[in-house]
Amino acid sequence: MCGIIGIIGTRDVAGHIVEGLKRLEYRGYDSAGVATLVDGRIERRRAEGKLVNLETRLREQPLPGVIGIGHTRWATHGVPNETNAHPHATDRVAVVHNGIIENYSALRTYLKQKGVSFTSDTDTETIAHLIALHYKDNLEAAVRAALQDVQGTYGIVAVCAKEPGTLVAARNGSPLIIGVGRDEYVIASDAAAILEHTSQVIYMEDNEIARITADGFRTTTLDAVPVTKDVEEVEWTLDQIELGGHEYFMEKEIFEQPKVLETCLRGRLDLRDHCIHLGGIVDCARELVRAQRVVLTGCGTAWHAALVGEYLLEDLARIPAETDYASEFRYRNPIIDAGTVVIVVSQSGETSDTLAALQEAKQRGAMVLGVVNVVGSSIARETDHGIYLHVGPETGVASTKAFTGQVTVLTLLTLYLARRRHMSQRSMNNYVTALGRIPGQIDAILEQNASVRTIAERYMDQNNWLYLGRGYNYPVALEGALKLKEISYIHAEGLPAAEMKHGPIALIHEGMPVVFIATKGTQYGKIISNVEEVRSRGGHVIAVATEGDRDIAELAEHVIYVPDTLEPLQPLLTTIPLQLLAFHAAVARGCNVDKPRNLAKSVTVE
Ligand code: F6R
Repeated sequence: MCGIIGIIGTRDVAGHIVEGLKRLEYRGYDSAGVATLVDGRIERRRAEGKLVNLETRLREQPLPGVIGIGHTRWATHGVPNETNAHPHATDRVAVVHNGIIENYSALRTYLKQKGVSFTSDTDTETIAHLIALHYKDNLEAAVRAALQDVQGTYGIVAVCAKEPGTLVAARNGSPLIIGVGRDEYVIASDAAAILEHTSQVIYMEDNEIARITADGFRTTTLDAVPVTKDVEEVEWTLDQIELGGHEYFMEKEIFEQPKVLETCLRGRLDLRDHCIHLGGIVDCARELVRAQRVVLTGCGTAWHAALVGEYLLEDLARIPAETDYASEFRYRNPIIDAGTVVIVVSQSGETSDTLAALQEAKQRGAMVLGVVNVVGSSIARETDHGIYLHVGPETGVASTKAFTGQVTVLTLLTLYLARRRHMSQRSMNNYVTALGRIPGQIDAILEQNASVRTIAERYMDQNNWLYLGRGYNYPVALEGALKLKEISYIHAEGLPAAEMKHGPIALIHEGMPVVFIATKGTQYGKIISNVEEVRSRGGHVIAVATEGDRDIAELAEHVIYVPDTLEPLQPLLTTIPLQLLAFHAAVARGCNVDKPRNLAKSVTVE
């Protein structure tokens, strides 16, 4: 979604702002712009489309200035064109904004009555005019006053022509991080835009305002109460957000799964004593062990990981568990009692529905545990306790390593609880050993990359695919279908295999690709019957099967083998071929997998 950067320093900032915006490109955008203060004036350059258009504009009309703000916009109010691109400005004030101003229509009417004329269709322009209206001689005071009238979510950064040495930022529901550099401050919506400048950061909280000058910063609440902030170290490095020789971030992230899952397991999976250590839950372990019920929530891929978590918690820890879409949970008046623990799963830690579900759960008195990747993100900060994924920054829009990271963390948590509740040490030994082998087994699956590519290329012209799995592999089927549709624009549906007979079987026709996750396990025989049903209707079966299973090769057109593991751990392996299949199908169709149409990386609006 939209990206923000603001810099105040001692050198011209426009070029650095564009570099920062490039680091935010992965989030998805459709226009971009920069504003700087030049000789007491606000100067802007904006362009529709990719950043290269903005760069061309800046080459034609360079922008000097040691203070500036920039933005990549993902359209919500108004079409993606140059006039709707941020920064929005009056003569005096320029603003970049992430989020949605819910009462913007009423504000527009009010401002028009005051004689304001609008040049864009955006909600953001109302903020610029409101600040200008309230401005007397202090930008911070004007922002504070303007925000009293605003309803909705925002992360904003504002500059004022009359105060050429000041950036003012405010946050409510949309992240902002201040980077503390040597001769400069950089404020951005995502640490990726800051790393090139510094690794020392301050995380702004909701309802806070920061006033930043070249000499320092101060933070207060919206009600002007001073807030003291700690400077923290970002754990990510610049090379983690580079392509590292790959053509796409998605490809890089698929292939780095063995390495990052080792990091995720490090210090947590104790292969010597066969136990699990989870620092993030030591203070709530007793409560977790005694939980009467667990509700897991998230969106998209994170929801699929949560569904694997539900199966794990019920099967191994014997805790009643259910999974709910965050967008449903937040509005459906859910029953949460004292014994309910809510687990929120999110890579970014900023997804608006997931954050709202978290807040809803807390308000109803639940203990909330976060399974989050981005350290310092809103969800990580608002949860009572949490376990980080530690899989490094996920830049690819299609989530891959975050899914396996989320499933790994949920597996660790389940095993920890299971052992504390009833699981024998002998079983624990087996699970710990098997989990320790997973990164190496993923490596072995990735070696089949070329043959998966061949399968993907053969079927890339088919516009309807089915993904079928049972038990632990049902969420994997959902995830496989989501990966394919979001990056290749092929329609794909994931189903529990037995459901096929209740309607979707009507779709199967000669030549339709049907992906079965048919690994050895309790329901193997059943899924083989489903394979037969598809074959007899002319469907082309692509099976993900357990190494050594020769029988399935008689039935399926194509078999992708995964190493054997304990059934509850299978999703960590079976999902890998499906990531590769989606990736290669999309590339073969000429799609840019890192910039899928209509998609943004972090969905920070409802
Ligand atoms: C799909 C994908 C999305 C995200 C979803 C939740 O590949 O990336 O479905 O999983 O938007 O995002 P997070 O995990 O950041 O809350």
